[in-house]
Amino acid sequence: MSKFLYENYKDYFRVGAAVSGIILMNDAERDELFQNMKRRMEEFKKNFKPQPGMPAFKFPEPQPYPMGDMPDKKLAAEQFNLVVAENECKMGSIYRGENQFDFSGADKLLAFAKQNNQAMRWHTLVWHNQSPRWIFEDGNGGKASKELLEERLKKYIFTVGERYKDDICSVDVVNECISDKNFVLRDGADRSQWFDILGPDYVDKAFFWAKEAFPNSSLVINDYNLEMIEGKRQGMYKLVKGMKERGVPVDTVGLQMHINIKNPPISEIEQTIELYGSLGLNVIVTEMEVSAYVDKDFEHPDPRREYDQAFLEQQAERYYQIFECFKKEAKAGILKDVVLWGVTDRMSWKNNFPVPGRTDAPLLFDGEGEPKAAFDRLCKD
Ligand code: G3I
Repeated sequence: MSKFLYENYKDYFRVGAAVSGIILMNDAERDELFQNMKRRMEEFKKNFKPQPGMPAFKFPEPQPYPMGDMPDKKLAAEQFNLVVAENECKMGSIYRGENQFDFSGADKLLAFAKQNNQAMRWHTLVWHNQSPRWIFEDGNGGKASKELLEERLKKYIFTVGERYKDDICSVDVVNECISDKNFVLRDGADRSQWFDILGPDYVDKAFFWAKEAFPNSSLVINDYNLEMIEGKRQGMYKLVKGMKERGVPVDTVGLQMHINIKNPPISEIEQTIELYGSLGLNVIVTEMEVSAYVDKDFEHPDPRREYDQAFLEQQAERYYQIFECFKKEAKAGILKDVVLWGVTDRMSWKNNFPVPGRTDAPLLFDGEGEPKAAFDRLCKD
């Protein structure tokens, strides 16, 4: 058995991690980010107007980042054979204006991946979140026309492809396009300006352009709660089945797997992987973590809890059982990669979602970078 996580699964699938640009920054860059966050939080607090009936909550105070290399960096370099950018490859981080591109964050991660002999995947080309506002506007205060937005999107996909097509193993071409309300494509009322302006066939077009731009990469349609909610799972099944019938070059479904200590049951994860496998599609896990909180409904999230040894052992068994399920589905030829959404608990987005400041412990390494019981369990046998 190896003390390197990815080596224990190399006969089944790659094991990856989302890397935040923050851990690749030097002290000066991190301090500048911290000063920015402080300023924005002060701005936010000044303009914040509590809604009637809103539970009182304390604004999370931005904490300065530790000086020197964060433990995440060394762990990301040695424990994983696949990396993805947590934020730096999103359109909002790159597409700064008409024909203006900032690839500094993406280039930094690619250099890190090459230095550590890791594969890199691209998250994400088209998403209703973290897309730059200007792209949906015509510059005269109006909405961009269908033709203008299509031209901008095509330009973006081919410019990114031109730069990275030889270095990217898989691309989340479209992210989170299935609505939680009715399990069909998100529309304008459900925050998708892509659907609103381009209509439903923006998904197909994005995949055809991505196939030309990234001829050697696998093309992924990525979403959350597919392994948790039957209606959404079937909604995605109908969408990709139709895409296949129309000859759209989608070859992989990405399961984000933002799951928790209790839900979903292993059987539902297997069922989900095999459902998309039955269409001849590959499946990858793109953003996994196992939260300590079940949070049945986000309106009434679970109260903060302690992370005692019993919880850490329970989490270790949960990770182990899920990875055994992944090994089975990899042997079945369906599951290809497993990516965790972060490295240490300290940097996890779950520390601020669904409750800002309610710290969670969803990953394999604690805030100091020490391996947790879950890591030891996955590396044991
Ligand atoms: O970069 C700005 C910085 O300049 C500013 O000072 C700071 C102040 O708030 O914000 C920074 O941007 C933050 C960004 O992360 C980079 O740290 C955004 O506010 C914050 O909203 C953004 O959160 C990311 C979130 O996606 C945005 O939707 C999380 O880190 C990231 O983990 C999360 O990842 C998503 C996947 O892409 C898709 N699936 C769900 C997953 C979790 O939401």
